[in-house]
Amino acid sequence: MEILGIDIGGSGIKGAPVETSTGAFLADRHRIATPEGAMPGEVAKVVKQLAKHFAWEGPIGCCFPASIQHGVARTAANVDKSWIGTNIEHLFAGATGCPVRVLNDADAAGLSEMRFGAGKGVGGLVLIVTIGTGLGTALFIDGVLVPNTELGHIEMNGVDAELQASDAARKREDLSWEVWARRFDQYLRAMRALLWPDLIILGGGGSKKLSKFRHYLTVDTPIVPAATLNNAGIIGAALAAEALQAT
Ligand code: BGC
Repeated sequence: MEILGIDIGGSGIKGAPVETSTGAFLADRHRIATPEGAMPGEVAKVVKQLAKHFAWEGPIGCCFPASIQHGVARTAANVDKSWIGTNIEHLFAGATGCPVRVLNDADAAGLSEMRFGAGKGVGGLVLIVTIGTGLGTALFIDGVLVPNTELGHIEMNGVDAELQASDAARKREDLSWEVWARRFDQYLRAMRALLWPDLIILGGGGSKKLSKFRHYLTVDTPIVPAATLNNAGIIGAALAAEALQAT
């Protein structure tokens, strides 16, 4: 099925039409800078622009950095608080005239990895952790997603783990790879103690630098980098929208 996948991030909003049976892009990815403040109405205009760019009239899948319950944003850790309570599916459907499915960004990356990437064919419990501005998580049991896990916000040393172990924390505090990796390792060890995953897949921008910190990780769960990396959000968003019927 052909679906327009859109990945909404803090700095850019990226989209491409995706053939969901293969994960292949049917046209070059298009990126538009996230409008200043990233308010709902402004972001909806960019989603409309992306649909227009691809002359799109079919289903659209979007991923967004918040917990999304039946289309409604429930949290806003790194986005404007006005998103909380917004039915993003209705907002974007109104803007584009297309049926829209919205899901959490880490969940989207996870769907892409489980279908086409490092988690393909892996059973048991798989945890995807995306390392970026936030710390996103997606949890799969025998290939089925448990949505909106938000495990990046567990308490660690009395503070939100994301504030200590995200890529943004590393940059903000100008941490060496070793210091940051020790924190991230503590985080992964907490995940292991709570969930006992069979596999951990690392995604997000931070995972591209795995060679710089892998040797500091002591957790004994198998850890692999995401394979669909830059495009995981777009592909996963499209996969999530597969059930929508074109109108
Ligand atoms: C948000 C999550 C999101 C993650 C990665 C966190 O701050 O709470 O919903 O998946 O960042 O963007």
